[in-house]
Amino acid sequence: MEYHPQAIRLCALIFISFYALLHLVEAQDQKGFISLDCGSLPNEPPYNDPSTGLTYSTDDGFVQSGKTGRIQKAFESIFSKPSLKLRYFPDGFRNCYTLNVTQDTNYLIKAVFVYGNYDGLNNPPSFDLYLGPNLWVTVDMNGRTNGTIQEIIHKTISKSLQVCLVKTGTSSPMINTLELRPLKNNTYNTQSGSLKYFFRYYFSGSGQNIRYPDDVNDRKWYPFFDAKEWTELTTNLNINSSNGYAPPEVVMASASTPISTFGTWNFSWLLPSSTTQFYVYMHFAEIQTLRSLDTREFKVTLNGKLAYERYSPKTLATETIFYSTPQQCEDGTCLLELTKTPKSTLPPLMNALEVFTVIDFPQMETNPDDVAAIKSIQSTYGLSKISWQGDPCVPKQFLWEGLNCNNLDNSTPPIVTSLNLSSSHLTGIIAQGIQNLTHLQELDLSNNNLTGGIPEFLADIKSLLVINLSGNNFNGSIPQILLQKKGLKLILEGNANLICPDGLCVNKAGNGGAKKMNVVIPIVASVAFVVVLGSALAFFFIFKKKKTSNSQDLGPSSYTQVSEVRTIRSSESAIMTKNRRFTYSEVVTMTNNFERVLGKGGFGMVYHGTVNNTEQVAVKMLSHSSSQGYKEFKAEVELLLRVHHKNLVGLVGYCDEGENLALIYEYMANGDLREHMSGKRGGSILNWETRLKIVVESAQGLI
Ligand SMILES: *[C@@H]1O[C@H](CO)[C@@H](O)[C@H](O)[C@H]1NC(C)=O
Ligand SMILES: *[C@@H]1O[C@H](CO)[C@@H](O)[C@H](O)[C@H]1NC(C)=O
Ligand SMILES: *[C@@H]1O[C@H](CO)[C@@H](O)[C@H](O)[C@H]1NC(C)=O
Ligand SMILES: *[C@@H]1O[C@H](CO)[C@@H](O)[C@H](O)[C@H]1NC(C)=O
Ligand SMILES: *[C@@H]1O[C@H](CO)[C@@H](O)[C@H](O)[C@H]1NC(C)=O
Ligand SMILES: *[C@@H]1O[C@H](CO)[C@@H](O)[C@H](O)[C@H]1NC(C)=O
Ligand SMILES: *[C@@H]1O[C@H](CO)[C@@H](O)[C@H](O)[C@H]1NC(C)=O
Ligand SMILES: *[C@@H]1O[C@H](CO)[C@@H](O)[C@H](O)[C@H]1NC(C)=O
Ligand SMILES: *[C@@H]1O[C@H](CO)[C@@H](O)[C@H](O)[C@H]1NC(C)=O
Ligand SMILES: *[C@@H]1O[C@H](CO)[C@@H](O)[C@H](O)[C@H]1NC(C)=O
Repeated sequence: MEYHPQAIRLCALIFISFYALLHLVEAQDQKGFISLDCGSLPNEPPYNDPSTGLTYSTDDGFVQSGKTGRIQKAFESIFSKPSLKLRYFPDGFRNCYTLNVTQDTNYLIKAVFVYGNYDGLNNPPSFDLYLGPNLWVTVDMNGRTNGTIQEIIHKTISKSLQVCLVKTGTSSPMINTLELRPLKNNTYNTQSGSLKYFFRYYFSGSGQNIRYPDDVNDRKWYPFFDAKEWTELTTNLNINSSNGYAPPEVVMASASTPISTFGTWNFSWLLPSSTTQFYVYMHFAEIQTLRSLDTREFKVTLNGKLAYERYSPKTLATETIFYSTPQQCEDGTCLLELTKTPKSTLPPLMNALEVFTVIDFPQMETNPDDVAAIKSIQSTYGLSKISWQGDPCVPKQFLWEGLNCNNLDNSTPPIVTSLNLSSSHLTGIIAQGIQNLTHLQELDLSNNNLTGGIPEFLADIKSLLVINLSGNNFNGSIPQILLQKKGLKLILEGNANLICPDGLCVNKAGNGGAKKMNVVIPIVASVAFVVVLGSALAFFFIFKKKKTSNSQDLGPSSYTQVSEVRTIRSSESAIMTKNRRFTYSEVVTMTNNFERVLGKGGFGMVYHGTVNNTEQVAVKMLSHSSSQGYKEFKAEVELLLRVHHKNLVGLVGYCDEGENLALIYEYMANGDLREHMSGKRGGSILNWETRLKIVVESAQGLI
């Protein structure tokens, strides 16, 4: 026979379109599947594994670390393509795959490990496999020349799932394929814990393993048949397998029954121990065409414990029977018995059986908001720390470098309390993600090359106690809200371009301004409160008695209060900022050569002035006879430049030129408190309620 090129082309065309169609259908069926060929090249396009029709893709992008390898040629023949390549992890202790999943969904998770002497060392590794923060299984590849498969059914608790390989000895963990299959809602539910595969049999002598595409969930069914005890039933008719568990039709199309019509169908298995908990799923379908008088009815017991008194499989439809609570077997020896009831004319039948042991995963994952935040920070800064994989906080031995967490007990999700990215070569601005670490107590971003302004959102993190931003290149001014935050230690030294009120940013060895900020304010505040209250009350009584007496000291009262405070902190060495400093000649100009005297304060004379010809100010000159020294002067400048409060007069600037010391305040056009109290300004004299309110608010201005 002669072949025409045309005909061949036509054939090819038909084949191609048929193949394309097939491909399309399969692609739909694999919805939600994740099939990773670990170790394949980053640019390798997804491919179809001919043995299953499953589409595998590279694991690049799902894992940030590891090296790629390939099993030796001599071992290749018994494995399918996805198992030939592998990824191994010589570096770090925990290396993790991060997979996008649907939350609150049961997934069938399979991992395949084939050593195949890929490293030429003839030393099969042993390591631990974790699911999130919990140990799943120890993988020991010794003697496993055919490789090993680990399988689990696990309900996701967030949108991300981590499968981690953990080094336990000297050998490098490795993996060949990683597969995830979402299962139908409300199947394989447990009271607690996840389901570790124990066995999955269908009762047939066919010798065929069955998985995808026959099994829509890609479960792997192994044939099992005991020819001495059983006879096999098969059918060619369709079986409705649309119950949630959906075992493949081909699995349900065969069944075993005892040879003896009156026999019992028995099946036994041995668990690791008598305390091992397990779940058993029995899949039944009547596949024999029953004659009118035939009945098949049997009792189902597990180690004598009754599951069903009388059960009849449904004709050509799958039904799955299981215990809703975990079971245990004495000595770990389990016996499942199907016993014919007296009424039944036919012996029991069994199509397929699955057994899983329960693994408890007691350790809760880190708070998902914290995880999202820390990952966003990681990506903002492009951090590639080897330990930054898997759950950030737990288990404790794998805590991410630079983090600290609050991990009280297993029943509450751990939270991140400290982030230390000191000396991590960070560039750019402060990452937005930090504001979502809402339980942060310590933030250390010191010794990096961070730029831009200091964001206000840091003040929103209520729990923050320490922020160390020293040794960066921040600019702009520091948000007031942050400066005023109680109990916060703010370290800013070594940021040359930052506009700092009082030397917070100047790097002075052993004496950062920050310490003062933190320590002094509370002392000042508490002492100030007493002093303000005491002296203000004293004033009230004096003025109440001698309303007419005219004191020499007419300085604004709030100046006076603060002056009192200064003596307490006279030992502090002040560091001043340059930006609000005026020269003496500027002060002369400002006051128009000390033209208008406003009064006499604690320091000396107070003059009226204007800055920039618009802003009215009160200029307080330090008299040489003043009891207050230079140190106190500096202390007052420092304090008032830092403190901003509606109840306190703000400091505009100062002059510090040789003998000439001056403080420049906002001008109170309506006169000072004392004038109001004494009635000197005219109008009504303040009542006591108002006076007390003023006292309290003055004090609040200092806290
Ligand atoms: C996982 O989801 C995130 C967004 O939630 C996305 O940025 C990322 O690319 C996804 N990863 C993969 C491998 O699909
Ligand atoms: C590996 O599989 C082959 C068949 O594929 C089998 O003959 C051999 O016994 C298996 N080896 C082990 C160690 O299980
Ligand atoms: C699964 O079903 C339950 C109720 O039966 C429902 O609350 C839940 O949202 C479902 N989950 C998914 C992922 O569909
Ligand atoms: C299979 O059974 C379900 C109910 O158990 C029914 O809704 C469905 O229509 C049946 N499918 C077929 C093909 O008979
Ligand atoms: C099943 O086990 C029972 C004991 O529990 C025994 O009496 C019976 O002979 C067994 N049947 C078969 C077929 O092994
Ligand atoms: C941050 O880590 C560095 C060392 O990497 C350490 O010197 C520093 O004290 C840590 N900061 C905090 C706040 O613990
Ligand atoms: C911070 O949390 C909010 C709300 O929970 C979210 O919308 C935002 O995307 C998060 N930002 C970052 C950077 O994680
Ligand atoms: C802030 O960080 C710098 C640089 O890492 C360090 O020298 C300093 O001790 C830190 N300050 C505090 C209070 O932790
Ligand atoms: C900041 O960047 C410069 C070069 O851009 C580099 O020399 C310096 O080491 C960096 N500083 C830190 C603390 O990483
Ligand atoms: C701070 O520096 C950035 C560049 O790093 C610049 O765009 C910004 O204008 C500066 N801000 C101030 C207030 O100087």
